[in-house]
Amino acid sequence: MTLSFSARIEGRQILCAIGTDRPLAAPVFCFSLMAAPTVVSGGTLVRRVAGYAEVALPDLAAGAVHEVVLEHANADYFPRNRAWLPLGPYLRVGKECLPLPPGAGLGLREAEGPPAPALEAGRLPLVPQPTEWRASGGEIGFAALSPVEGLEGVADLAERLGLAPLVVPGGLPLAVTEEAALRPEGYRLTIAPAGLSVAVGGPAGLHYTGITLLTLRETCGGKLPCGVIEDQPRFGWRGQHLDCARHFFGVDFILRLLDLMALLKLNRFHWHLSDDEAFRLEVETQPLLWQRTAFRGEGELVPGVFGGGIRAGGSYSKADVALVLARAKALHIEVLPEIEVPAHSHGMVKAIPGLRDPGDNGEEASVQGYIDNIVNPAMPATWELLQPLVQEVAGLFPFGMIHLGADEAPHGAWDGSPAVAALKAREELRTSDDLQGWMLAKLAEGLVAQGIRVAAWEEAAKGVQGGIGNGALLFSWTGQGPGVEAARRGHDVVMCPARTAYFDLAHSDDPDDWGAAWAGFVPLEKTVDWNPVPKGAEDIAPRIAGVQACFWGEFTTEDSQAEGMIAPRILGIATKAWEPAWRTDGHGIRALAGIYGPLFDRIGWRRYRGA
Ligand code: ACM
Repeated sequence: MTLSFSARIEGRQILCAIGTDRPLAAPVFCFSLMAAPTVVSGGTLVRRVAGYAEVALPDLAAGAVHEVVLEHANADYFPRNRAWLPLGPYLRVGKECLPLPPGAGLGLREAEGPPAPALEAGRLPLVPQPTEWRASGGEIGFAALSPVEGLEGVADLAERLGLAPLVVPGGLPLAVTEEAALRPEGYRLTIAPAGLSVAVGGPAGLHYTGITLLTLRETCGGKLPCGVIEDQPRFGWRGQHLDCARHFFGVDFILRLLDLMALLKLNRFHWHLSDDEAFRLEVETQPLLWQRTAFRGEGELVPGVFGGGIRAGGSYSKADVALVLARAKALHIEVLPEIEVPAHSHGMVKAIPGLRDPGDNGEEASVQGYIDNIVNPAMPATWELLQPLVQEVAGLFPFGMIHLGADEAPHGAWDGSPAVAALKAREELRTSDDLQGWMLAKLAEGLVAQGIRVAAWEEAAKGVQGGIGNGALLFSWTGQGPGVEAARRGHDVVMCPARTAYFDLAHSDDPDDWGAAWAGFVPLEKTVDWNPVPKGAEDIAPRIAGVQACFWGEFTTEDSQAEGMIAPRILGIATKAWEPAWRTDGHGIRALAGIYGPLFDRIGWRRYRGA
């Protein structure tokens, strides 16, 4: 049997054409959109879970091409590009599931944009730019270093990236001294005809020296310019987040992402391990969590939301975690695990009984369209699950910090729950924000008592009793304002504002592009066109721990699709995280992206090539 499928955008509408060369009796069209769909014509909506839908079609005759017209239920959602077309489409005919080819191709198209501008004189072909570069004129040939204790991580990285060895017997010696006045990640590298020498603040400073030498060798064509590089990061937190709940990224992809991060001196991997669609970590405290939600699709607890199609998923074993941790350690990267509560927990609610109030008659819906994605803090089962769970997860990661989520509680959450009404009266709480803050503080207290630091998205600061408290690190994502407010109330903050640091947003407004658009488009220039310490907020500068990029996996169906969303924009976020304010502007980062393009190609990391 041959089935055909195509889809295109016309204004708010998505026009789908389904063709068959055999007659099909009562087929059901199953697919997902970016958010909850409605059917304008061509079929009848028979089931919807968030962005996933099942549409009953009439019988199709052999040779028929049937049109189904869809819209997003939320009138504010305009389909912007190909990522907004149906993902994971298939037909269910009786008991059989028949995959449909993706409508207009998946992922970025790799058309070449205009040539990059030249790098300004006086700059090194290096991302991030060093704090200071004093050229002394001339250059030396450089192929490899003699063995240096402490550079094993960079040497292994070079090998994995498929680059020439960085360390070989008989290579150029690097004279290393420790200098107490330098910060642990800082280094002062002298490149001279007489040889290479470096003063480092500690093992991380030496590691970053190795990264600098490896990169310059690649971007300067086997030479090094002579001079002195003084370098240290502006921020201690230089992060990259990866949503492994919506899309299950293979461990190999995660290891490759760690390698790419290391090449850009990023040092925090935020591992988003649970969300509405799945719980990915093979925990022992409650195995049903991952056993029941790791795969989604036909016949599973969670259907094929966000491109899940007939079946998609996976879970990370303890051995997988050990692989990620070992790679991270070798690259001076810490791993922050995230378990999302109380919202973004649809899978958790489905998998574990007792997390919702049976008397709850509320009608809340999450931004993504779930009507049951928040656990209820008035239910004993919620605490029986969460307290040991977060302790177990935190205990698996040597960083000693766990992220508890806390974003996007649906408007009106818990308002219909009599058990919550009683809890609020008892604890003198009025709003859902008050209750979420109270709940997070209680979870955090248990962790802090074990010496574990907590982190959460910006919403965790809300609540009449002061929100999560407990010295939590907060992530400012809707903008920088909430981060500034939280910092003024005593929180340390990581800035990851969506409009500049979300790599799931499309690069451009081209309908042939790929990605979300709710916070606008993020061309490369935008990733550097902002200050982590915004104007007027200089008073809280010491509270800004750093900068992070986020990649959400809603419309990713294959690991490789994430690569061109991340590169080259990761250059901009690495720049913001390391360099002093306003060192590299949009023109500069585009010039550097031009230089890094061939390096991305050499290490086999796909990149967006458009304007
Ligand atoms: C988020 O993007 N909802 C943290």
